[in-house]
Amino acid sequence: MNLVVGVGLRAGTSYRELRELVGAAVADAGGGRVRILITVDGRETEPGVQRLAAFLGAELQTVAPAELRRQSVPSPSEQVERLAGTPSVAEAAVLSAGAELVVTKRTSAQATAAVGRLASAPGYAPGERQVVHRVLAERRDVRRGFVDLPIPDDVLTRVLESAHRAPSVGLSQPWDFLLIREIATRRKIHDLAAAQRDAFAASLPEERRKQFDGLKIEAILDTPLNIAVTCDAGRGGRHVLGRHADPRTTWFSVAIAIQNLWLAARAEGLGVGWVSFFEPGEVAAVLDLPAHIELVGYLCIGYVDEFAPAPELVRSGWAARRPLSWAVHQESWGRRGLPGAEPTSITQDAERAAAKAGGAVVDTGGGVAPGPVGRQVVRVVIGGDPADYLGR
Ligand SMILES: Cc1cc2nc3c(=O)[nH]c(=O)nc-3n(C[C@H](O)[C@H](O)[C@H](O)COP(=O)(O)O)c2cc1C
Repeated sequence: MNLVVGVGLRAGTSYRELRELVGAAVADAGGGRVRILITVDGRETEPGVQRLAAFLGAELQTVAPAELRRQSVPSPSEQVERLAGTPSVAEAAVLSAGAELVVTKRTSAQATAAVGRLASAPGYAPGERQVVHRVLAERRDVRRGFVDLPIPDDVLTRVLESAHRAPSVGLSQPWDFLLIREIATRRKIHDLAAAQRDAFAASLPEERRKQFDGLKIEAILDTPLNIAVTCDAGRGGRHVLGRHADPRTTWFSVAIAIQNLWLAARAEGLGVGWVSFFEPGEVAAVLDLPAHIELVGYLCIGYVDEFAPAPELVRSGWAARRPLSWAVHQESWGRRGLPGAEPTSITQDAERAAAKAGGAVVDTGGGVAPGPVGRQVVRVVIGGDPADYLGR
């Protein structure tokens, strides 16, 4: 059984006292493996707590008093509230770790302990979880605001180590990271991107082109380092586990490595911009890549003066984020809704979005039937007279 032990203690509580208290509480729980020893923020530095965690082989976690106060516990105490700012430490800490409380508060002279049972292996402590979600939310594609600072080798190595830890089909690890600092090489690559930028601009309608003119799409010359992330589609030989049925998995693996790099860089305060305004073969020629090595991503990386709170394409009005509820489908594609919510049909969502934008939905199939539906084609008309489009 996976156990969580919550402890509350006065400063200086001895290891011996804690061990006896916790040992008895764990025995009351029927025994098991203590995975987490959890206490209130600040008490993790207590020598007795650290020794107890080492003795138990448990991860030492802490939780903020505000989080403890949110828990509803069986044995709240006014005295604990006066001392710790929360009516419970031991029981509330167990509950905040997501465990079911199986032994309520036990007390010794200086400490309290409670035991919880985890239905499965534990996740990270709430504060650590928050950091993971934070880096996911605050990763940005950065093309502006780079500062003239070199990237220390140890920082870059840490970032590359994270990239290299990515999952890959059959553990084929098909990626390589080509570090490019030479200005002459970067100028050639920059020229390729500029030509593609012009070609894209020329393909746009007037209004859209004006908008595009204000966008920066690369930072090849503004960053101290460019990284060409490549794919060796044959790595691992002919019998790569999982690749035989879907060879695309090789390129997916490289893309995941890039995402790892992007996230680790964000945590280090490094901005990364992915440039795809290239014909990959042209970049391969400039970089003199071996014939079997393909470019997957071209990244510009460096320290920045700030990370924008939202994607540049959103802030500039070029594109918008889709709501998550549109991206989650239940049982059949088109029945959209968040976990636990009643799914709606794509038609209903389109009607709502169209109404909000002052337009209308015009079906090209057999009627705009509300409710969960099967396969449909939906055309949304925004502006003009929807009647003009009916029957087409
Ligand atoms: C495969 C890929 C290629 C991209 N290519 C470019 C590019 O050529 N130029 C650019 O400015 N941004 C590029 N981006 C960045 C996207 O525009 C950006 O990820 C998106 O707008 C969301 O912003 P965020 O990354 O800041 O959240 C690319 C992103 C990906 C994943």
